[in-house]
Amino acid sequence: MTTMADRLLDAMARSAARRYSGEAVSELEHALQCADLARQGGADEELQLACLLHDVGRYAVDQALVSDTTETTRVGPGARGHQEVGAELIAPWVPERVSWSVRVHADAKRYLCAIEPEYFDRLSAVSRDTLRRQGGVMSPDDVAKFAEHPWVRDAVALRRWDDEAKVVRKQTRSLEEWSPLIRSWFDR
Ligand SMILES: [Fe+2]
Repeated sequence: MTTMADRLLDAMARSAARRYSGEAVSELEHALQCADLARQGGADEELQLACLLHDVGRYAVDQALVSDTTETTRVGPGARGHQEVGAELIAPWVPERVSWSVRVHADAKRYLCAIEPEYFDRLSAVSRDTLRRQGGVMSPDDVAKFAEHPWVRDAVALRRWDDEAKVVRKQTRSLEEWSPLIRSWFDR
């Protein structure tokens, strides 16, 4: 029987052939780098899992359903970003903290742009362009709300690792090495 873990690992393996949103690394390299940075940064396993899967809405979901990853973007009511579609895909399987951190990884960028001017200056050209499509810099009201969330530190940490996880030909742990963690949540 094919499990959710099998399907997810298969989609991740295939994402090695997909370029990460105009950056010079593949989607798989990006995911593995992000997870490694979390691990090296002392994140617990839940947050490492969130980092590994944060872009699952890019490679494990039909992109025709997603509003922000393709040229022919869906707009208007019902259009949802890859972070929402991805969070929804994994939500039945993982702790809420994991799916929430995935769901808000675009908002975390909008938040950081609002509270740290130097953060915006460091964003890659691609990331600046998607910021617009993701709603732009967060309003002061939304900043105050976001800052109060109990998991805000996780969201910000994931975001910073996400931004760094674009280094060409960086050595990382392999997908196989992450497979036990993925199976522990999705093979049930
Ligand atoms: Fe990412």
